[in-house]
Amino acid sequence: MTLDLENLRRDYTKGGLEREQLNENPIEQFKLWMQQTIDAKIPDPNAMTIATVDASGQPSQRIVLLKHLDEKGFVFYTNLQSRKAQELKQNPKISLHFPWYFLERQVKVCGVVESLSAAEVLKYFVTRPRDSQLGAWASHQSRPISSRALLIQQFESMKNKFSKGEIPLPDFWGGFRVKPHQIEFWQGRENRLHDRFEYQLQQNNSWSIERLEP
Ligand SMILES: Cc1cc2nc3c(=O)[nH]c(=O)nc-3n(C[C@H](O)[C@H](O)[C@H](O)COP(=O)(O)O)c2cc1C
Repeated sequence: MTLDLENLRRDYTKGGLEREQLNENPIEQFKLWMQQTIDAKIPDPNAMTIATVDASGQPSQRIVLLKHLDEKGFVFYTNLQSRKAQELKQNPKISLHFPWYFLERQVKVCGVVESLSAAEVLKYFVTRPRDSQLGAWASHQSRPISSRALLIQQFESMKNKFSKGEIPLPDFWGGFRVKPHQIEFWQGRENRLHDRFEYQLQQNNSWSIERLEP
């Protein structure tokens, strides 16, 4: 049986985006849109899809949470033995995507990752709930496992191991900072004539801004 979705469509009429409205600095523009997304009470406003590429050129994507953003870049945390981390070790190029289509918007970022220092990772790790810290210890992220029961067993065993005191930072857990060189802001418009603006980092560290055809 085929699945026909041809009639699932809507017009985008919530607003427009003009060059004059844009902040010259895309990080500031991003912070404004993130705040508007938070204010709109959209679930997980900081969820972003990240795309990495393996040695054969095969892309793969998954959602992670943006935990920090400043002039230095976009920060997320993960298991360093996971597929994404292994791929980033070989090829640090990454693309981030914020799917804010509830607001008829999306943001796309292209950049390169650098690893966070252990001190930076620890600073975040200690703020996580204890069970999340144990979860980090319990999972060999991206590896096959024979059953959920085994996963729970691994969790319980970590719970026993670290029953007293603070839970240490696993050496296989860390984070990445994405240093962006291209950021696109997309706002849906009527008749598919959407507004798109692409910021491109210049050699003198300023940003150019261009409107793209939809
Ligand atoms: C809403 C949401 C938030 C997530 N946040 C994270 C995260 O911050 N870090 C992480 O490693 N995985 C996170 N995940 C799980 C990832 O999507 C993914 O399954 C996992 O990191 C393994 O990916 P990989 O095998 O491609 O490396 C999240 C998933 C969802 C749906």
